Amino acid sequence: MRVKKRCDIQIWRASPSHMDHARWRQLTSLLDLAERSEAFKFRQEVDRKAYVLVHGLRRLVLSDMLGVAPTALVFRYDKKGKPQLVEPPHQPIHFSHSHTRNGALFVASTDVVVGIDAESIGTEPLDFELLRPYVVCSESSEMDKKNGTEASFYRYWTALEAYSKAVGTGPSTSHPRLLFVPDAQGNWNVQCDVPNSPEMATRATQAVIVRVAAPVGCEASLAILRHAASPTEISFPEPSGEKVTLVIHEKELTADFELTRRP
Ligand SMILES: CC(C)(COP(=O)(O)OP(=O)(O)OC[C@H]1O[C@@H](n2cnc3c(N)ncnc32)[C@H](O)[C@@H]1OP(=O)(O)O)[C@@H](O)C(=O)NCCC(=O)NCCS
Repeated sequence: MRVKKRCDIQIWRASPSHMDHARWRQLTSLLDLAERSEAFKFRQEVDRKAYVLVHGLRRLVLSDMLGVAPTALVFRYDKKGKPQLVEPPHQPIHFSHSHTRNGALFVASTDVVVGIDAESIGTEPLDFELLRPYVVCSESSEMDKKNGTEASFYRYWTALEAYSKAVGTGPSTSHPRLLFVPDAQGNWNVQCDVPNSPEMATRATQAVIVRVAAPVGCEASLAILRHAASPTEISFPEPSGEKVTLVIHEKELTADFELTRRP
């Protein structure tokens, strides 16, 4: 059997500032009743719009990939809040989204399990104690010295949330704390902080965090769970030997709802 040597991941961005009144109406009309009712729970219009944008984006992209109408898609959430596509059923597609007031990100892949997170910089108190139950991090690490503490904080934060969306748990204190180990390309290999445990070795190479272009004023991370059936290594960015090559396609939703590839 020939093993696939390439993993394709699609990332789409959308910006609220690109949408006019008519577009908002169109986007809202794509949502189902449950989504519309969630949207209208937001008190502030800017938050409501962010919700509508990311859920409209999700429908447009999946509809394009699967060849069905955006309104024909039906989603359910599992017990921990991970969204699942139930109509059309049995689609081998993994997806995740994140929204902030500045923009929406959606990721999908038929090859690997993915999670994505974006945060607006400056919205959370810059307190590493918030992260410590989940992540082993140090404000004085080399990365912090290079990038500045605020950028590091949001990178840890989005990495944690992207990872927790990919594995489907949400940030959980019952999960071993995460260690992010940089590779030569600046991506982070996720390890679990369980010293002397065989579990750590097993989990060590299962996930990688890639920093992705974020909406203005935001930090964003993509988490990729490595394909169980493929060789254990993902190479960036070129194919080499038996490694699996990861290809990230970046696209943008334009105001006329075309899904266009970024230059
Ligand atoms: C899932 C979580 C990460 C949400 O993140 P967020 O930044 O508030 O919101 P985002 O827009 O980025 O993501 C929301 C989407 O995540 C997805 N999501 C929620 N739970 C999920 C889970 N268990 N697995 C996978 N995806 C999940 C959903 O699609 C959700 O969108 P929807 O419910 O509106 O359809 C959640 O854990 C959370 O509420 N975090 C709050 C902050 C926090 O405590 N962080 C801990 C670090 S200190």
